Amino acid sequence: MSFLLKSECELQAIIAQMSLKEKIGQMNQLIVSHENIEEKIMAGDVGSVIIINDEDIERSSQQKKLASQCSEIPLLVSTDVIHGYKTIYPIPLACSSTWNPELVEQVAYHSAQESAADSTDWIFAPMVDISRDLRWGRIAESAGEDTYLNTVFSRAWVEGIQKSGSVAACVKHFAAYGAAEGGRDYNSAQVSERMLREVYLPPFKEAIDAGCKTLMMAFQDLNGIPASIHPLLYKILRQEWGFDGVIISDYNAILELVEHGVAENLKEAAYLAIQAGIDVDMMSNAYSLHLEELVLEGRVDEALINASLMRILQLKQELISEQNKTVSNRDDAKLALQTALESAVLLKNDKNILPLNKQPESIALLGELAADRASLLGTWSFLGEPENTDSIQEAINRKFSGSAVIYNDAQDRAKALDIAKQCEKVVIIIGEQACMSGEAHSRSEPGIPSAQLELLKALKESGNEVIAILLSGRPLILTEAELYCDAILLAWHGGTYAGDAIAEILAGDFNPSGRLTCTFPRSVGQVPLNYNHRNTGRPVLGEGITQFAEAYKSNYIDQTNEALYPFGYGLNYSQVEYKDLKILEPNIKISECLQVEITVENTGSHDCSEIVQLYVRDLVAQTARPVKELKAFKKVDLQAGESRSVQFSLSSEDLGYYNWDNQYQVDAGDFDLWVGPNSKSNLYTQFSLEK
Ligand code: NOJ
Repeated sequence: MSFLLKSECELQAIIAQMSLKEKIGQMNQLIVSHENIEEKIMAGDVGSVIIINDEDIERSSQQKKLASQCSEIPLLVSTDVIHGYKTIYPIPLACSSTWNPELVEQVAYHSAQESAADSTDWIFAPMVDISRDLRWGRIAESAGEDTYLNTVFSRAWVEGIQKSGSVAACVKHFAAYGAAEGGRDYNSAQVSERMLREVYLPPFKEAIDAGCKTLMMAFQDLNGIPASIHPLLYKILRQEWGFDGVIISDYNAILELVEHGVAENLKEAAYLAIQAGIDVDMMSNAYSLHLEELVLEGRVDEALINASLMRILQLKQELISEQNKTVSNRDDAKLALQTALESAVLLKNDKNILPLNKQPESIALLGELAADRASLLGTWSFLGEPENTDSIQEAINRKFSGSAVIYNDAQDRAKALDIAKQCEKVVIIIGEQACMSGEAHSRSEPGIPSAQLELLKALKESGNEVIAILLSGRPLILTEAELYCDAILLAWHGGTYAGDAIAEILAGDFNPSGRLTCTFPRSVGQVPLNYNHRNTGRPVLGEGITQFAEAYKSNYIDQTNEALYPFGYGLNYSQVEYKDLKILEPNIKISECLQVEITVENTGSHDCSEIVQLYVRDLVAQTARPVKELKAFKKVDLQAGESRSVQFSLSSEDLGYYNWDNQYQVDAGDFDLWVGPNSKSNLYTQFSLEK
């Protein structure tokens, strides 16, 4: 009997024939290399497996075959394809800096296809956890601090991953995992229901509306209840949003209910998890060891298991029946290069020191990261191939073949300074290695390593003009470092083709267009420093250190409230002027749309892509509203000297908020509206919503 194309009724009939043990087996997920896994598969004790490394790939295909010999229900192979599989793309935070969801959808599609060719059915992405804390290592996996932007990219990732129909996406981690206190991974999150609904949940809702087939619960406790079993989260998911896909725990998270101190032992943890609504137990063995017993004791109703099983079987059906529909015309290298190019953010470029004149006589290339291929690949790249990745040094050598490129790893500072002195240009690679961000890699002092800082300082003091290429998995504290740099190009961990992208940008063959999706604070003590904070009853009025003199205001006495680089910020080799901001009809009825128009003119001498950003502020509402909120953006190409009109349309639905009772409402009233190149731009106008 074939498992393909069964109606719900026929699936019910299959379920009716299964033993309780077989049913529970479908709810059990183990890693491919788990002890005695093949025996467990033959016994029907495993419903899906996880690939972790290269060796797992072949074994997972064999396990699929083995499962098909024992049962008509297929085994699913799952894995983390976060920013690529073998072809590695820039980390998700960098992908979001492209402000190009169409490009990111392509990244998601191509990486899903590359992994599906190796038997993957289920991808644990996207991560849509809003993160406003640079200490948290997993900020690398998010689209940064803004809810709207995370929502846009959430849809792009889900649609890309699921486009072929043969791979399921898994939106994660539900919810507020990015609000870990102190930025320490897995730490508790305290988030009010209003903040949850307003800030943290919309990207999940968007993923589900985009058809995301599965969802992963978060590890941490949310206001004291582990998210894995949080009743409010399940109520929102299943009842309010009507999500009927598969819910999976995070790795070992059911067992961790014991560590959280809410379950006495694994059996009680299994009880809590099934009652809460987890369909698939990832790696805790809680269901396989205890569910049967819990049903036999009458504590768990078998109907709950049947309901989970139905969701799992429906998922398997959908994936298998689409498996042959995949047709793809892959050009991963080109796409990976384009994404690395578009994700790079030019943070500083004094006296237009960049781009380099095509063939300087000599370039001093300093810092060990210039030769470090693995660090270009970033945090989730266990199948990435450093050996097939060009280092920055190799890419620069190729691009500047007419120049003498002298590389030095800068272990010996005096030698590095000496080389710099002899060369026409000095390029230094600074920042984090790949292993310094990602899961379980939080940092309390996320700056650049002190040896790099000392070298920068010495280079500057010796009179060099310093061009820094910054590799990073997160925003870093650059307040001192930037003083010693004339130019800073943030290249993130840009993937397999990061080296070429950096070389092209240095040479001026590509004009950088990336913009920050996370604020760069001046010091760790300012965290969280998101642009969309509330005003408070005592906002500071001045700028910079004048704020220190403002008594009894919401400020510090030793640091300003300003960012080093604000949200939305990024330079390019040209200049763009914003003018003629107009709202076509500044008084609109609540049911109408607001039409906004602005002219942008490239007044420089390089063609560029400009990310035109629109922000609003609701001036008076029942709850305090953020001082600015991104509501729309457009990426427009402008040739040198070209002027273009850019239009936006905002619906009044986009202008609502959650009231005292946590209900979404749209009020009549006045709004400020800005359009500009980043969240600090001050070209603004006003409009009103009328009843
Ligand atoms: C733990 C991580 O939190 C999650 O994001 C990932 O998908 C699983 N491990 C599986 O690798």
